[in-house]
This record gives sequence, C-alpha cells and structure tokens, in this order.
Amino acid sequence: MWFAQRFRASPEECTRRQLRHTSARKRRKKKMMQQVGELNPPYRLMLTPGPSSVDPRVYRALAAPLVGHLDPWFKTCMDETQSLLRQIFQTANRLTMPLSASGSGGIEASVLNALEEDDEAIVAVNGVFSDRMYEIASRATTKVIKVEAPYGLPVDAEDARRAGKGKKIKMIGLAHGETSSGVVTKIDAYRKVADELGALLVVDTVASLAAVPLHVDRERIDICFSGSQKAISAPPGMSPITVSTAAEEVFRKRKTKVQSWYFDLTTAMNYWGKERLYHHTPPISLIYALREAMRIVVEEGLEARWERHRVNQQALIAGVEAMGMGLLVKNPADRLPTVTAVMIPNGIDDVKVRNQLLEEFNIEIAGGFGPVKGKIWRVGLMGYCSQKPFVLLFLSAMEKVLQDQGYRVPAGAGVAAAIQSYSHAETAAAVSR
Ligand SMILES: Cc1ncc(COP(=O)(O)O)c(C=O)c1O
Repeated sequence: MWFAQRFRASPEECTRRQLRHTSARKRRKKKMMQQVGELNPPYRLMLTPGPSSVDPRVYRALAAPLVGHLDPWFKTCMDETQSLLRQIFQTANRLTMPLSASGSGGIEASVLNALEEDDEAIVAVNGVFSDRMYEIASRATTKVIKVEAPYGLPVDAEDARRAGKGKKIKMIGLAHGETSSGVVTKIDAYRKVADELGALLVVDTVASLAAVPLHVDRERIDICFSGSQKAISAPPGMSPITVSTAAEEVFRKRKTKVQSWYFDLTTAMNYWGKERLYHHTPPISLIYALREAMRIVVEEGLEARWERHRVNQQALIAGVEAMGMGLLVKNPADRLPTVTAVMIPNGIDDVKVRNQLLEEFNIEIAGGFGPVKGKIWRVGLMGYCSQKPFVLLFLSAMEKVLQDQGYRVPAGAGVAAAIQSYSHAETAAAVSR
C-alpha cells in the first residue's frame, strides 16, 4: 500500500516492481556468497623485518580450543606464559606480561607510564621506530630531547650524556634493534648515562628479543618491551613487556594518572598479577601461540639461538657481497643480526625485484623507509626464518631475479660464498632450528 502511494503505481505494477526488487536482492546475496571463498592464504617465506613465518607447532597452538580468560586452567597457562617471558627477557621482574597490542603498544605503554607532563626525557633516534618512541614521548610531555644518528649508525651515548647535562632527565629511550636500518645499539653505555642522570632506561627490543644477546636484569634495563611477531616467531598482536622494581616505584609516585587507561601497567597487572582480576578480554589464542613459540625458544636455548642468528646472517652477508652488493651498515659490530640492509645496485628497480621474488618464489622481503626508500632492501632472518635452507634459497632466487632485471651476477657466487661461510661456523646447531 505504502509503495502504491509513494510511487503512484497501479497494484499490478507494484507487484511487478516488488518481485523485481526481491529477485535483485537474491542475486546480490548469491553473488556475495560466491565472492567470499574459504580462507586460503598463499604459503609465503617471510624474510621480512617482521612478521616472520611461524613454526607448525605454533599454528597447532592457535587452533586449540578457546577457554574463558578467567578459567582456572587459563590462569595456569598465564603463569606459564609469564615464566617463559621471564626466561627470555632474563629477568626476575614481577611486572612481566604480554600486552594485548602490537610492538607500538609496547612503546606507548613504556613511555606513557614513565612520563608525566613537564617531565624531561631523551630519546636516541636512528630510524623510524626510535623516532616513533620520540613521537609518543612528545605527546606525553613537551620536554623531550631527540639525539640523532643517520640511518646505518647507532646514536653515540656520549651525545645523550651531553644533552642531559644539568637537566632532570626522567627517562632515556632507545631501540636496541632499529629495524628500519638494521642497526644494533649497545645498551651498556646508555645504562651508565641513565645512572649518571638518575633516569629510567627504556629499551625497545621488538626486533632483537630472542635473537640478539640481551639480559634485562644484568643490563639493568628499567622497561623493556618487544613484539611477538619477530624473533619469537609467533603471530603479530602481542607485546611482551617487563618492568624493574625501580620503575614500578616511579609509577607509584606519579602525581597524575597515566593518560591511557588501556596501557596503565599497574591496573593491567591486576589481571596478570596474583589477583587475576578482569581488566580487558585478552586474545586467548594469541597467548596460546606466544606460549608455544616461547617454548620453542627455551627448548633451543637462548645462547644457541643467538648464535644461530649470528651465523645465518654471516652467511647471508657473504652471499650478498659475493653477488657484488654492498650493505648500508658499514661497521660489522653495528649490524643487527635479524635485519640486513642491502644496498640496491644502481639501475635496479626496488619494487620489480621484490614483486618477482614474491610472485615467482613466494619469498617476501621489505624495502626501505624514509631517506633510504628505494635505496635498500631489508632482509629479515628472524626466529623460524633464520635457517640455512632459507638463506640458500633466498640467495639463489635473488640471483635469478637480479639476472632477469639486467644485473650481472656471477653464476652461483652467492650460494657458494654462503656455503663457505657455513663451513666456518663452529656449531652444527647454529644452522637450523
Ligand atoms: C624496533 C621496532 N619497534 C617497534 C615496532 C612497531 O611494532 P608493530 O608494528 O608491531 O606495532 C617495530 C615494527 O617493525 C620495530 O621493528
């Protein structure tokens, strides 16, 4: 009736229009159902700076039955997860848990809990991710000093010391592994500066935890956070974090509330602490996966794992150099074992090479950011991906792709140099997980 009134049509015309309308709706619905097929992602070898491919055991953990976040069984699973985290961080810190967030959530939580308005802080910036820490800190207080180094170099701790002289610095932050340039920064010198200035030391280990030597307690890091998706080789979505008792004391003395309710570490710890009180609903399946990935780390042993990452990167570098390509990070001691920044040869198209690697070989690598965009490739060998067969596969695939793009590579030189490098490696355990 309303139809007839609105469109001033006869009853017969109304019926015809309604029938047409109904069958069009049915057709649209059918089309929608046809378009959304069963989930069937391609199998990629993710030699990226993260996420990395995961062990089949981790996939099995992801598929385990869900339980509630307050289920007594899950509480034990949480204890085990925290115990594994403490082993990997090498800490006895009470406040140790996985945040329900990616690595950037770890930065937010660390910085927002450490800083209040008008606090002074220093952030060492040598790439995109340390700059992100600076950006987040600048939202908490306007008094943040940036000390910088160009891409490819660590920031000199001496610059931080000079910048902090005579100031009341509350926090010094840095990225242990700067993923955008493939640089590792030594923590000790920063600890000394933080001690002199009476500051908390905040360290981003998103790209280094479980791959590069790190001892949170021995190195006296106050707040250390990471990401699940890199060298731990779990899916993205969790940010492990650990906080020293000294930093907990600073949190307790805050005059103002932490700006973020979600990332207020003291209240989040009501859930991860003894009380196990509801805070938010955590991603249960991701916690299963993280727990399994960390079991793999601990089974392998941290030292064996650090050595594996070192040896595989050495072989990759030997192969890349034998193919005539250079590296962004000139000083071997500054190279982050998980991410190798390879200079793109003159005249070679960054995107074409990456696309061909993906389409022809199912291998994903990454390009550069900011000032090094189009100038470097970033090849990640992290966790599950740091394996001899993958290094050799990548080098031979790269040879084929570069040749197709017109770059002359001596046949087999990359793989031969890598094999030679492996033959010098001291431990057999170093080459595969
Ligand atoms: C060193 C470092 N910090 C922080 C992040 C941010 O982590 P996410 O992308 O998981 O938020 C990344 C990501 O690549 C990183 O490499």
